[in-house]
Amino acid sequence: SQRKQIDEVLASFHLSEENLIEVKNKMKDELEYGLKKETHAIATVKMLPTYVCGTPDGTEKGKFLALDLGGTNFRVLLVKIRSGRRKSVRMYNKIFAIPLEIMQGTGEELFDHIVQCIADFLEYMGIKGARLPLGFTFSFPCRQASIDKGTLVEWTKGFKATECEGEDVVDMLREAIKRRNEFDLDIVAVVNDTVGTMMTCGYEDPNCEIGLIAGTGSNVCYMEEMKNIETVEGTEGKMCINTEWGGFGDNGCIDSIRTKYDKEVDEGSLNPGKQRYEKMTSGMYLGEIVRQILIDLTKHGLLFRGQISESLRTRGIFETKFLSQIESDRLALLQARRILQQLGLDSTCDDSIIVKEVCGAVSKRAAQLCGAGLAAIVEKKRENRNLEHLKITVGVDGTLYKLHPHFSRILQETVKELAPHCDVTFMLSEDGSGKGAALITAVAKRLHNAGE
Ligand code: BG6
Ligand code: GLC
Repeated sequence: SQRKQIDEVLASFHLSEENLIEVKNKMKDELEYGLKKETHAIATVKMLPTYVCGTPDGTEKGKFLALDLGGTNFRVLLVKIRSGRRKSVRMYNKIFAIPLEIMQGTGEELFDHIVQCIADFLEYMGIKGARLPLGFTFSFPCRQASIDKGTLVEWTKGFKATECEGEDVVDMLREAIKRRNEFDLDIVAVVNDTVGTMMTCGYEDPNCEIGLIAGTGSNVCYMEEMKNIETVEGTEGKMCINTEWGGFGDNGCIDSIRTKYDKEVDEGSLNPGKQRYEKMTSGMYLGEIVRQILIDLTKHGLLFRGQISESLRTRGIFETKFLSQIESDRLALLQARRILQQLGLDSTCDDSIIVKEVCGAVSKRAAQLCGAGLAAIVEKKRENRNLEHLKITVGVDGTLYKLHPHFSRILQETVKELAPHCDVTFMLSEDGSGKGAALITAVAKRLHNAGE
């Protein structure tokens, strides 16, 4: 029957407890491979050292610029940090658009555009002559040899500008500033958004040693013991590792739980074969999975009267915010139908019920997978310290986590089930990763000046 066919599709997104434990264990193995000298080159979870060696302690101070590139919005920020007993952070920011043709044009065009936006911001704030220290949140995998150097390993998500992979993004920014020849900046740090988020939350809670992004992309960073990081000299203290866990599964290790819809989404993406875990767990792709399922159901005459409309053929129509609205329980089905209508999908009442079920199955699996990954991280931290019980805070940001009505709850429940000896507090980052980037810049600047 028709219902049976629909249920079969939904069931392919169901994960048993056994599946989830397996994901957690495999993630743990990959984390280890990424840290070890012999295996890090082949690890799918890159485990990139960040040269950030501590969380904020309240002594940070000064005036900084921050850039925040790679999420939904590109921002330029001015951050003023006060230290001491009345420590505080004040921020002024402006959002700029990055047009698609710039995201996927040449590297030079991209960085010229970024510098154009900085110029607008400096003009707007009236601080063009100041030569402020700058922290650059760049939310892509970078191989770092110090806090102010980062070679782009490969683009992820919606970016694909040419001549950037293998290049140092700080150099590219400096060169673009030189080309414009209008103002000067002191670029002090490049920072992944996970790291910025961890630092932002770490400013309020010193127990925050993990940063999680569930947004356009999916990624985690955490403080690791130096002695476990074989790819960096030294054994004392800790360093933050940007895991780049989005690449988990790129060696096929989770293929048994991938569906044909996941494969279609992967094949239609800018980076086929890459970021397989990210493509099952993050905002940029969940809507695409839903769309592939709806196309399939329609082909089988189970939806939309069997008519595949032009909109349904359009990539990217189901943005995170639409999924979130459709799944909201406060919303009557009639309103869900109205949203589908807005997207150009004429649905019957039955159709809208099925669409909502499909969205639910896809987002639930995403939250569970993300939870299984996070369970691996907290368990690793617990074992590192040989503790029976670990209490830890995770700083979180991202549109999926913030907007979706069920994602955060299912994620937290999954972590609880899979890491029962860890007491995990989730702390929502209110001010984005730009604040964290400024805090890192403050520390780096102080250390640099002390060494001069
Ligand atoms: C923001 C950060 O708050 O969260 C960004 O400042 C980051 O740098 C983002 O990329 C993640 O969310 P999204 O959903 O915009 O990708
Ligand atoms: C992608 C990027 C990663 C970033 C994440 C969240 O996975 O590769 O660097 O942290 O998206 O924005």
